[in-house]
Amino acid sequence: MKFFIDTANIEQIKEAQELGILDGVTTNPSLMAKEGIKGHENIKKHYKKICEIVDGDVSAEVIATDFEGMIKEGEELASLDEQIVVKIPVTRNGIKAIKYLSEKGISTNCTLVFSVGQAILAAKAGASYISPFIGRLDDNSTNGIELIEKIVEIFDYYEYDTEVLAASIRHTMHIVQCAEVGADVVTCPLNAIIGLLKHPLTDIGLENFLKDHKKLNK
Ligand code: E4P
Repeated sequence: MKFFIDTANIEQIKEAQELGILDGVTTNPSLMAKEGIKGHENIKKHYKKICEIVDGDVSAEVIATDFEGMIKEGEELASLDEQIVVKIPVTRNGIKAIKYLSEKGISTNCTLVFSVGQAILAAKAGASYISPFIGRLDDNSTNGIELIEKIVEIFDYYEYDTEVLAASIRHTMHIVQCAEVGADVVTCPLNAIIGLLKHPLTDIGLENFLKDHKKLNK
């Protein structure tokens, strides 16, 4: 399972990269706004900066909602760096844009996926990734992990190349459950990734090892 970090925060991206487990980054317009990145040129510069830090795929989302606008913006984003994956919402125009861009060899990430039907259409259009939002489903009394499980099963059955990128991850158990049901990628906040390391028995065990060593090695 690949690990992406879900942020536009440069320090957090660097921290995850330094851990040595990072496979990519996802951003969205809200995450960019949270970092105060505004203006066309600054936004492009920020994506380029992220690409310099990580080795893997970097999702950059289009703002346009019409077909022409999406492909124009998508082509511009893709030209910034070969690591850029153009993130496109799962709308009618979005599906058309994914088809167009994927035929041109541009990687795409179909976002805001909340149903199996949306995932199937995006895969048919040639999306490199589809992003079902687990946390937002859970927030609405619907089991997000079950959606991941169903999509993984269908994509395996039809041998689609599209990767299932579990998004809107809120905590460590989401990550573990995604691994259990075979998600290809998880995109997570840094604290959820670091949280995977936490176990009180590890802390107690390490403390005791060091204490025992110190007894004989003063
Ligand atoms: C990533 O691709 C999504 O944009 C992101 O995971 C959404 O997460 P949220 O539901 O926490 O905003």
